[in-house]
Amino acid sequence: MNIVETSPRIAVLGAGRVGSALARVTVEAGYPVSVSASRGPDDLELIASVVMPGATPMWTADAIAAGDVVVLAIPLHRFPALDPALFADKIVVDGMNYWPPIDGRQEFFERGGAGSSEIVQDHLSSAHVVKTFNHLGYHEIEDDRRPVGDADRRALGVAGDDRRAVELVASIVDRIGFDPVTFTSLRDGRAFQPGEPAFGNLLTRPQFLELVPRRVAA
Ligand SMILES: NC(=O)c1ccc[n+]([C@@H]2O[C@H](COP(=O)([O-])OP(=O)(O)OC[C@H]3O[C@@H](n4cnc5c(N)ncnc54)[C@H](OP(=O)(O)O)[C@@H]3O)[C@@H](O)[C@H]2O)c1
Repeated sequence: MNIVETSPRIAVLGAGRVGSALARVTVEAGYPVSVSASRGPDDLELIASVVMPGATPMWTADAIAAGDVVVLAIPLHRFPALDPALFADKIVVDGMNYWPPIDGRQEFFERGGAGSSEIVQDHLSSAHVVKTFNHLGYHEIEDDRRPVGDADRRALGVAGDDRRAVELVASIVDRIGFDPVTFTSLRDGRAFQPGEPAFGNLLTRPQFLELVPRRVAA
């Protein structure tokens, strides 16, 4: 195992509800973490020191460059403006959702039944996109963490086309305090999008596997 596999540098894009929670829990889990918002690092410094102590504020492009794993925790409508060239060969965790009642109709994400993370992958074609963290509320990212073996440990779906990327992200999910349920196709992540039974429900691993078709579970 190399250093990237044991302690990857995590870049969280977005310092709002989801981004700040993910920055906190990944710092607590011992990862080196950078964080960015649409404002620059000077504007983020104070709030980061209070709300995400230990996370390093950076410009978005610098955070991406510094990260082995880049987490998307930005509003969906801001995604199309991200420059795909910055993400070459990065492992990208997509925690975003397309939920028209909340986000409004977004043409970029309207593509005949394709999952939103599949569209993210098409835009970031040279990255390895993994879908997870999207199907729990931001406050639950901290509150629902449990140690390995706890009977109530919450399951999180982890789906992507690149097996190594899925395994690395699953190890992060596990170290934070959730049970990863891995899927070897990004398409399978449709099963934990808004409107699906696994979305927003606190499920243990057996409960998750019961709801999401077993044929796609690895
Ligand atoms: N809220 C939830 O419970 C929840 C749960 C699961 C998934 N999600 C998904 O998570 C994403 C974020 O939701 P949220 O509730 O955390 O939103 P939020 O509180 O509005 O925070 C969004 C953050 O993204 C930053 N941002 C915008 N454009 C950026 C860019 N180009 N680069 C870096 N940062 C950028 C914003 O910075 P500025 O303030 O400087 O603009 C802000 O810090 C959404 O896609 C949502 O669907 C949300």
